[in-house]
Amino acid sequence: MDVLGIDIGGTGIKGAPVDTRDGSLLAERHRIPTPDPATPAAVADIVADMVRHFGWTGPVGATVPARVQHGLVRTAANIHDQWIDTQVDRLFSDATGCSVTVLNDADAAGLASMRFGAGSGLDGIVFFITVGTGIGSAMFYDQKLIPNTELGHLRLKGGSAEDYASNRVRREKDLSWKKWARRFQKYLDRIEFLFAPDAIIIGGGISRPMKVAKYWDYLSTQAALIPAELENEAGIIGAAAAAAR
Ligand code: BGC
Repeated sequence: MDVLGIDIGGTGIKGAPVDTRDGSLLAERHRIPTPDPATPAAVADIVADMVRHFGWTGPVGATVPARVQHGLVRTAANIHDQWIDTQVDRLFSDATGCSVTVLNDADAAGLASMRFGAGSGLDGIVFFITVGTGIGSAMFYDQKLIPNTELGHLRLKGGSAEDYASNRVRREKDLSWKKWARRFQKYLDRIEFLFAPDAIIIGGGISRPMKVAKYWDYLSTQAALIPAELENEAGIIGAAAAAAR
């Protein structure tokens, strides 16, 4: 099935049509800067622009960086407060005239990874952890997503884990990769203690091979630790895959 996947992030909104049988992009990815302020109405306008850009009339899958329960946004850690209690699937469907499925960004990237990337064929408990401005999590058991885990907000060092170990914190505090990895290790230890996963896949900007080389040797887990493969496109592909179900 062909689905337009749209990944809504803090700085950019990226979209492409996806063949959900193999996760391949059917056209070049299109990126539009995220509006400021990124209110639901302003973002819905961009989603409509994206649909027009591809002349799309079929199903659409979209991500947002928040807990999304049955199309209803429940939290807003790194996005505008107005998102809370927005029925986002209806908002985007009304704005585009297409049928739109919406899910959490980490859940979408994780889905893509399990179907088409580093997680394919992995059974048991698998976590996909995406590290960027925030920390996002997706939990799978025998390939089945348990949605909206929001484990970037685990308490760590007296605050939210993402305020201690995200890539944003590394940049803001100008931490060396080694120092940041020490922080991220504490986060991984906590995940292992609580859930005893069989594998942990690390996604987000820090999963690019060039970045991975800078910190991978400082991390150690009982679970198999695997860098994600789909990088930038994971959210788009996963959003499309979720809408195709
Ligand atoms: C949000 C999550 C999101 C993650 C990554 C967190 O701050 O609460 O919903 O998945 O950032 O974007």
